[in-house]
Amino acid sequence: MHVRMVQLRLMLLVLALPVMLAACTQPTSSPGGTGGDAPRRWRIGMSQANNAEPWRQAMNAQIAAAAARHPNIEIEFTDARQNNAQQIADVEAFLSKGIDLLIISPNEASPLTPIVASAFQRGIPVIVLDRKVKGEQYTMWIGADNRLIGRKAGEYTARWCREQQRSPCTVIELRGLEGSTPTQERGDGFREGIAANPDVRIIASQNADWLAERADVLARVLFEANPDVDVVYAHNDPMGIAAFNVAKEQGRDTDAILFIGIDALATSDGGIQAVRQGKLDVTYVYPTGGAEAIEWALRILEQRETPPREVILDTEEVTIANADAMFQKYGGRE
Ligand code: FRU
Repeated sequence: MHVRMVQLRLMLLVLALPVMLAACTQPTSSPGGTGGDAPRRWRIGMSQANNAEPWRQAMNAQIAAAAARHPNIEIEFTDARQNNAQQIADVEAFLSKGIDLLIISPNEASPLTPIVASAFQRGIPVIVLDRKVKGEQYTMWIGADNRLIGRKAGEYTARWCREQQRSPCTVIELRGLEGSTPTQERGDGFREGIAANPDVRIIASQNADWLAERADVLARVLFEANPDVDVVYAHNDPMGIAAFNVAKEQGRDTDAILFIGIDALATSDGGIQAVRQGKLDVTYVYPTGGAEAIEWALRILEQRETPPREVILDTEEVTIANADAMFQKYGGRE
C-alpha cells in the first residue's frame, strides 16, 4: 500500500514536471511590471452618466488623453444617456467582461450605489468622479467641493445685491438633476452664502436637470411670472446661458440681472467665453478630474497605493476681470 502511494506520487510528479518547468520559464506579470518584464495591461471601464453635455465630453477627452500616455492602459467608455438603469447595465457589462478598475461618474447617487458597492465588494477598485454615491463602498472619490462653489456664488450674490442696493433682491434658481449630489451641495452652499444678506430672497427654484433645453422652457415661464427678478443662479453654465438667451429674446434688460453659472469650460461656447461675451457675470471652474482619475488608477493598480478617500480639486471664480487670463490658463484657443 505504502509503496503504491509513493509510486503514484512519483508518476504524478513526472506528469506535472513539464507544466511546472513551463511555468518557471513563463514571463511573470507582476503588478508593477517590474523585473524587466513587459508591463501588465490594465483594463479600465469608464462609466459616464451621459456623453451629450459639453462638460462630460471634456471629462472623457481628458481621461482619454491621460490614458493615451500609458500604452498599457486599455480604456472603454460607456454612455448612460442620463439613465440610471442604463448606467447600472453598463457597469454590469464591465463586470461580466472583466475589468481591473472602474471609474464612474454616476448619474444619480441612490440608484447607482448598489452596483458600485457590488463592484467594490468583488475587489475591483472604484474611483467615483464628480457626482457621488451613498455610503462608503468605493475606493475613492475625486471632485471639486460643490458646497464651497455654491457658497461662493451665494456670497457673490449677497455682495452684488448690497452694492446694487436691491432690496429685496430676488433670485431664480435653476437646479441640476435633484438626485445628483452636486445639485444639493450647490443649492445648500448658495443658501449659506446668501445668509449674509437678508435682502436676498430665492423666489423660485426649479430643476432643469443640468440641461439647457429644460432651462430654456423654465426660464420663459419664470421670467414672465417674475419680471423684476434680480439674479439667476444656474447650477451649470449651459442652463445659465439658456436663461440669458431667453431674457434677451423677451427684451429684458439683461444688464440689470446678475447671471451666475458653474463649470467655466474654456471652449468656444463654454462658460468663460460666456463671461467674456457678457452673457454670464460670474462662473466657477469645476474641474472634471479626468487626468487625476487616470493618475490615481495607475497608482492603485501599479504602485499598489492605498489612495486617500477623497481628492478635492480646486475651483476658481471667473468674472470679466480675469476671464481673459482664465481662458488662457485653462487652454482656451481663440
Ligand atoms: C454635466 C454636468 C456639469 C455639472 C456636473 C455636475 O453633466 O451637469 O455641467 O457641473 O454635471 O455633476
